[in-house]
Amino acid sequence: MEHMTLASLDFEQYRGLIRDDLHVTLVITCKKGGVGKTTLALNLAVALTALGFKVALIDVDPQGGISVSLDMLDDYGAPIEGIFDLLIKEMPLDKVVFQAPADEYESVRRQPGGELYVLPGGNKTQRAAVVINEDGEDYDLLTRLIQPLRDRVHFTIIDTAPSNALWEGGILSGADYALIPTQLNRLSVDGATRTVTQMNRLAGLHQARLLGILPTMVNLNTHGQAEHLLDLKQNYPGLVWESVAIPESQVWRDASEAARSIFSFKSLTNPAGKRLAENAMWAVAQHFLAQIHQKETRYGQ
Ligand SMILES: Nc1ncnc2c1ncn2[C@@H]1O[C@H](COP(=O)(O)OP(=O)(O)OP(=O)(O)O)[C@@H](O)[C@H]1O
Ligand SMILES: [Mg+2]
Repeated sequence: MEHMTLASLDFEQYRGLIRDDLHVTLVITCKKGGVGKTTLALNLAVALTALGFKVALIDVDPQGGISVSLDMLDDYGAPIEGIFDLLIKEMPLDKVVFQAPADEYESVRRQPGGELYVLPGGNKTQRAAVVINEDGEDYDLLTRLIQPLRDRVHFTIIDTAPSNALWEGGILSGADYALIPTQLNRLSVDGATRTVTQMNRLAGLHQARLLGILPTMVNLNTHGQAEHLLDLKQNYPGLVWESVAIPESQVWRDASEAARSIFSFKSLTNPAGKRLAENAMWAVAQHFLAQIHQKETRYGQ
């Protein structure tokens, strides 16, 4: 895989996307755990914010990966249950959405104007999903309730659990696109395939289009990865984001452990690796914007 450097990326051409009528909702989904969904959701959100976009990050995973990643705790040190409070306690949206501290993206800010909002989730999210599902009709309650937030930002990024069995149609219902991260091993590729199948099966409940399949934690020297990549490309022609596949690197785990995005994480042990990882995420952000630019311009809003 050739390496893009930040200097070779050109974000100027996407400045035009920063307009009041751009509202794109992206679901990050894969029916396999640990493939890098939360890492992608958080870091793409931070990158887009640094590029001057207004971004909302919604965490519908009961593991609450986003809130953990951003250390979002209430006054008593308990995780903030934004999704549950919104859906079940009927708290107003502005009481459950938090603006992320600017220090997440300040040091890498490339254009002013960016803002990052977070709607955190936690282990009560599953209870909320059960209650909603009992009602049946109300599967798209979350989509309706977060509409005012989506109207306020350019991009809404939804981080999901590997299994949202109760609730998948509801989560997809407000989405324009889905992006599937996957590792290049058998179980993950199976997970990615099942994700596509499920999206198709639920087609009546949503309009989300598959934007791409992003290989993560890639090391093509590892046995089998090159074959899995080839299979994916054959099965999903034009949809595999091979050119911006994210290489495997310890620095991602270190950043998760420190509850930081790759951009705000300060690596004392491996600054060079951290820069490579940052560049990998900038490349993903650029590819994402290129896709959105192409699609939203062609189809209109
Ligand atoms: N490119 C990478 N190289 C190495 N490790 C990575 C990379 N990307 C993410 N990781 C690490 O892999 C682990 C799983 O990532 P992450 O939590 O983002 O996956 P997930 O798909 O959200 O998991 P879950 O399904 O449990 O929600 C984390 O420890 C993360 O730091
Ligand atoms: Mg996760």
